[in-house]
Amino acid sequence: MNYFEKKKIKDILEDKINDYKDVIVMGWVRTKRVSKNIAFIEINDGSALKNLQLVILNPEQHPLAEINTGASIKVKGYIDKVEGREQDVEMKAEEIEIIGEAPEDFILQKKRHSFEFLRDIAHLRARTNTFGVVNRFRSKMSYAIHDYFYNKDFKYIHTPIITSGDAEGAGEIFKVSTLDFDSLPRTEKGEIDYSQDFFAQETGLTVSGQLEAELLATALGDVYTFGPTFRAENSNTSRHASEFWMIEPEMAFCNLDEMMTLMEDFIKNLFRFALEEAEEEMDFFNQWIDEGRREMIEKIIEADFGRITYTEAIEILENCDQDFEYPVSWGVDLQSEHERYLTEKHFKKPIMVRDYPKEIKAFYMRQNDDNKTVAAVDCLVPGVGEIIGGSQREERYDKLKSRMEELEMDLEKYEWFLDIRKYGSVPHSGFGLGFERLLMYLSGMQNIRDVISFPRTPGNAKF
Ligand code: 4AD
Ligand code: MG
Repeated sequence: MNYFEKKKIKDILEDKINDYKDVIVMGWVRTKRVSKNIAFIEINDGSALKNLQLVILNPEQHPLAEINTGASIKVKGYIDKVEGREQDVEMKAEEIEIIGEAPEDFILQKKRHSFEFLRDIAHLRARTNTFGVVNRFRSKMSYAIHDYFYNKDFKYIHTPIITSGDAEGAGEIFKVSTLDFDSLPRTEKGEIDYSQDFFAQETGLTVSGQLEAELLATALGDVYTFGPTFRAENSNTSRHASEFWMIEPEMAFCNLDEMMTLMEDFIKNLFRFALEEAEEEMDFFNQWIDEGRREMIEKIIEADFGRITYTEAIEILENCDQDFEYPVSWGVDLQSEHERYLTEKHFKKPIMVRDYPKEIKAFYMRQNDDNKTVAAVDCLVPGVGEIIGGSQREERYDKLKSRMEELEMDLEKYEWFLDIRKYGSVPHSGFGLGFERLLMYLSGMQNIRDVISFPRTPGNAKF
């Protein structure tokens, strides 16, 4: 048998196969019903939400007793089209071979399980309807991202996972080391001697590919990364993961306003893709996770995103009649409750908030003329809060250097970052979209742990 002889259930259900005879299907058993003269098995091969119904006309000739829910089987037979029934395609099985047995007590029987319970069996949850859909959706939306940028002639770049820097300057780095933890080498001063470590310096997992993306943008023009990022941030919320995937475009010769136009276009294109190309998944979410999701996404595609400054946002929050846990005044960082008030209650649509106080934003953001704010922009959406953070970058050597000095950063370590401000520096901008936050928003799934197959969160790195 060669690879192409096996048919995908999706293609069979969508009537995309040429020959209805001698069809071979392989998959996992979802249900089985056996009576004297006929038996039915539903199998799923991961290609679609729907199962393929197998009809077995001579049950006694097949090893049906050993075929339990969860078992994997190979089936040979022919496809019958049954008109006027919901399940209008079925397969008459002629030969059934058990590939892998499953004991009768396989945990995923037909009943519904809670998402909490399924997180504990993440090695199996992809075999449920919901997580099959989530995983296929994730795959499709990854493609949508590459498709968008490919068509805009952005270059897909790969930035390092292991770095010696801290792009966001928030000190949330997971260390990478091969030193012997039981006997750490020390310098004369008693500090850990990283010169004896694998990379001869202190290293960690990247929190963002931005700094290296900036380097490549100043050579290739428009670039983007799409990779895993890691944050040792001890916030156990439904929107934070310690390992998450981020899409980071970086554009040379591009200011904040131009970047915001791209940001809105990008988001709307991804939403449109979800509605048109991931219909099965969006229908599922609309039916089982959040009724009205589809309509909400459609509305957003039609609406203009709101655009306000941080200062305006603070005024709105100070003058509204909602009590916040974290008090609001100019200079504070917006908390999730503030972001959600703005986007859910006040504007009732996605908004882009720009020009934040420099004290609450990263060192690399371009300083505005008021000496108080930087050219930062966050995109906030109802239900999730921040899904994008970005900025125009400080391209002026002296300004960047003095900001880094103010923050007591190690200039020698970031010499290369300053260097590109010396040789043909250009205005440039970029942003980071949290992939899981995007998936949460589109699907209506409430917990980030349920849109990534094997979530990493404080206290949890199983699987
Ligand atoms: O706002 P952040 O920290 O921005 C950056 O990292 C910039 N270097 C991006 C850039 O300009 N190239 O993170 C960007 C986005 C957030 O808006 C959020 O969607 C997501 O990444 N994010 C997280 N998602 C899940 N879990 C976490 N712990 C996240 N932290 C940030
Ligand atoms: Mg941010």
